[in-house]
Order: sequence, then structure tokens, then C-alpha cells
Amino acid sequence: MNLMLFGAPGAGKGTQAKFLIEKYNIPQISTGDMFRAAIADKTDMGMEAKKFMDEGKLVPDEITIGIIKDRLAESDCKNGFILDGFPRTLAQAEALNGLLKDLNISLDKVISLNVPDELIVGRITGRRVCSKCGASFHIEFNPSKKDDICDYCNSDLMIRKDDNAETVKSRLEAYHTQTTPLINYYKEKGIFIELDGTKDVSLVTQDMFNALS
Ligand code: AP5
Ligand code: MG
Ligand code: ZN
Repeated sequence: MNLMLFGAPGAGKGTQAKFLIEKYNIPQISTGDMFRAAIADKTDMGMEAKKFMDEGKLVPDEITIGIIKDRLAESDCKNGFILDGFPRTLAQAEALNGLLKDLNISLDKVISLNVPDELIVGRITGRRVCSKCGASFHIEFNPSKKDDICDYCNSDLMIRKDDNAETVKSRLEAYHTQTTPLINYYKEKGIFIELDGTKDVSLVTQDMFNALS
């Protein structure tokens, strides 16, 4: 199954990706996680991406498309994948189309988690992420079993550098101006599924599995 999770920052893409990985045994490809790993490794690409991420702006298309091209070619993507946070611009969507054509595959479904802007700030400022596996928790809505420890891998939880009320504003603006045109793009392809992302985490998961079965 070749899937894409779509939605505003904080809509729950990373959270729901974890459940898709478990059910379908396919990898999550999160450009945000890949950039954060490159920043931690202090690579040139990471340092370039950091300038944009710290300001809540999108990383330029050529960098983003380049890392996806290499990632999709890896052997663990052969039986499917979950794109999380990519594509985010029409140019990225067109590039993805070309990459998938070259691999003789196509996207099966785009799952959109719909959450209004007014809920996003609270989700993002209360988020805690695993420093190792990237799992997302929320101090109020989705707490980890042990304070500040990841349920999946027991590593420490931390606050993402771009998770502050100021940066969230620019991230939402980038989403509305650059990413929402993809809604019609994928609706026209007939693969766009819209889910109510404001429900509890487990209910969203249920709706998502129902929509995919
Ligand atoms: P990225 O890491 O992708 O961040 P994002 O899109 O802003 O999305 P988030 O990871 O913030 O949200 P999410 O939907 O995964 O939500 P989560 O499940 O964690 O990108 C970061 C940056 O990298 C970008 O700003 C950009 O600079 C760059 N970048 C990445 N991809 C790029 C691309 N393709 N092109 C250019 N630049 C790119 O959930 C959020 C919180 O809510 C958590 O606390 C969670 O526990 C909680 N929660 C989840 N579901 C629910 C629920 N149903 N009810 C209540 N709380 C919930
Ligand atoms: Mg995420
Ligand atoms: Zn973890």
C-alpha cells in the first residue's frame, strides 16, 4: 500500500503513521524527521534546511525532492510506504508523480486529517516528541505512559525547536498558501480521503483503517 498522510502542522500525521506502520508493516517517510536527523548529524543539507525550519518556512523544493528520490529507491519501500509531510507544494507533487512513474507504482490513497487552525496551537505547544524514534505525544491529549519517556523505545521525550506559538503561525501560513492547493490536485486524481482529525487519536485511527479496508 502506497499512502500519503496529509494535513496541517500538528494535524496528527506522525501520530497516525505509527499505527499504519504496525498494521501494514511499511515504513514511514517523514521529510521533517529526515531533516531533523540531518540537523542532528550536522550535515550540509541539515544546516541548510535548519535555516528554513527554524523560521517555520518550507525547505526549498530541490533539497526536499532530492532526499525523497533517494529514500523511495531504498529496498524497504518495495512493499509500500507512508509519506508523511511530503509533498507540500505542487512542484513536489509533480516531482513525486514522476518518481513513482519511473518506479512503475502509484499512490493508492491520500489521507487528509482535517483539523481547524484554532486547535493547532494547543496541539503543537503541548507536544513532546521522542528524541530517538520521533514518536509524538501530548501532555494533555495523548500522554506517554511514563512522564517524558517514549512508550515505543523508552528514550527521552523533548520539545521540538519549531514548536512555539510564533513559529506555528508561519507554519500554518506556509500550509495555507503553499500546501492546500494539493487538495484539489489529489481530489482530481480520485484518491483523496478526508477524515475528521479532531476526534480522539484512537477514533481517528479507526476511521482511517475503515477508509483503507
Ligand atoms: P514536519 O516535521 O513535517 O512538521 P509539520 O508538518 O509541521 O507537522 P507536525 O510534525 O508538526 O505535525 P503532525 O501532523 O505530524 O502531528 P503529530 O502527530 O505530531 O516538518 C517540519 C518542518 O520541516 C517544516 O516546517 C518545514 O520547514 C520542513 N519540511 C518538512 N517537510 C517538508 C517538505 N515536504 N517541503 C518543505 N519543507 C518541509 O501531532 C501533533 C500533536 O497533537 C502531538 O502532541 C499529538 O500527540 C497530538 N495529537 C495527535 N492526534 C491528536 C488527536 N486526534 N487529538 C488530540 N491530540 C492529538
Ligand atoms: Mg510530524
Ligand atoms: Zn521513541
